[in-house]
Amino acid sequence: MLSDHDRARLRNLIAAYSGLSPASLGDEALEQAVAQRLAVHGLEGLDAYWPLLQQDGELNRLAQHLTNKETYFFREERHFRLLRERVLPDLLAGRRTLRLWSAGCATGEEAYSLAITLLEAQAQYGPFAFTIIGTDLDAAAVDRARRACYGPRSLRRVPEPLREKYFRAKGPDFCPIPPVKDAVRFAVHNLLGDDLPPDLTGMDIIFCRNVTIYFDEAARDRLNARLAAALREGGYLFVASAETMGHNRGRLALVPLDDAFVFRKGPTAPRPRRAEPPPRPRLPPPPLRPAPAGRQGAGGAFDPTPPLDRARRAFQREDYDAVLRELDRLPPDPSARQEADLLRAATLLQQTRLEEAEAACRRALDREPWQAEAHLLLGLIRRQQGQAEAAVQSLKQAIYLQPTHHHPHFFLAETYRDLGAVREARREYENTLNILRRRPAQPPTRNLVGLDDEMLHRACLLNLERLGNWPPPAPLGRSRT
Ligand SMILES: C[S@@+](CC[C@H](N)C(=O)[O-])C[C@H]1O[C@@H](n2cnc3c(N)ncnc32)[C@H](O)[C@@H]1O
Repeated sequence: MLSDHDRARLRNLIAAYSGLSPASLGDEALEQAVAQRLAVHGLEGLDAYWPLLQQDGELNRLAQHLTNKETYFFREERHFRLLRERVLPDLLAGRRTLRLWSAGCATGEEAYSLAITLLEAQAQYGPFAFTIIGTDLDAAAVDRARRACYGPRSLRRVPEPLREKYFRAKGPDFCPIPPVKDAVRFAVHNLLGDDLPPDLTGMDIIFCRNVTIYFDEAARDRLNARLAAALREGGYLFVASAETMGHNRGRLALVPLDDAFVFRKGPTAPRPRRAEPPPRPRLPPPPLRPAPAGRQGAGGAFDPTPPLDRARRAFQREDYDAVLRELDRLPPDPSARQEADLLRAATLLQQTRLEEAEAACRRALDREPWQAEAHLLLGLIRRQQGQAEAAVQSLKQAIYLQPTHHHPHFFLAETYRDLGAVREARREYENTLNILRRRPAQPPTRNLVGLDDEMLHRACLLNLERLGNWPPPAPLGRSRT
């Protein structure tokens, strides 16, 4: 029988290690987990067990008893459909080798479902290579994933044709065939551990679903930062629907895709539905020396486009390195400096180069202290720097200067939500919706914060719903359907 003091200490230790919130660790579950570990070690009481918990691996084994490992093939099937129909065409337009991570993979069904989806997609989109890694805190679950044989319950959502094509019966079980099994490797890894190993970086797609349900706010935030760092620019993060708003922390763009939301690193414009991956536009190589207004094109042709226009276009197509290159080439024309600094700040923000983004913003504000857009960008930088209170000040300043600008209202709502100020957050989401309702429909071009109106509208509704007790919203005006 554990004392209250013991339970509190254990809860805090497990929470700090795994992210599981102390409140989610019920008395009975904790008692049982400790009892099982004491039995394994042949120990009588907690006093003798404490020193073991400081040793490598024991805390992991204790935590394993307390995590939920429920999973099955093609869980939340629409994610796999969106991956195949919407996300892969986008990514394959840029490269033909993809890296995927099933983070918190439990016994491996999610990782193998990814492998089956990509093998099917190869028939659709032509040859491409991919690697999939599945990781979990729980070494026993990872062992089962490596063994790769599953009972019928795990396969309950696998469509019959896929079951026949990709599984072989082995006694009462079904095992993925070698092309599926060999496509995935597994590792034991704590998502909240100290490091992000190099083989878990540069990811194009991360599935981290149903992992944070029992996490507290701080752990969710740490995990979100970790996953954002692991993604490649333009890469996608899928979380379970119930976890979406917990992951909406401003680091990644929330992108509505058909009937679901996904996160995307950097660019935020929703991808148009495409039948074929279109070729990506190629830039001519940069000139050796800056040209005053235009420049030599790839074939020696003179490109008369002014550099600021080229930078704007590069921003539209989310080629951030090109934006910065073009901005570096700008002639010393004072009239272009202000917009150039705002564009630079927005670009550096997308690249999470926050200090440089702030410096560009400050230059713009020194020149024009009353520009709402500059205060808005500074607010977004502050948010990403984790300075919520300072972000509120900057965003309020932007609203004061331009009360009908919807973006500062939206990000103020998001910041209030982060701060737990529910009433204020709701008010600002409602303000954003009111402004959107009055605005004529806009083309979905990328603005400096990368959110188009439709996306903003859906995010406000979703967040209001999550904040609860909100009356059903009025429909959008005639300008949008
Ligand atoms: C409910 S399962 C989800 C499996 C799969 N992603 C799905 O959606 O079906 C949650 C998994 O997250 C793992 N997990 C929880 N905290 C973790 C952490 N800090 N690091 C790595 N894995 C963790 C658990 O061990 C468990 O296997």
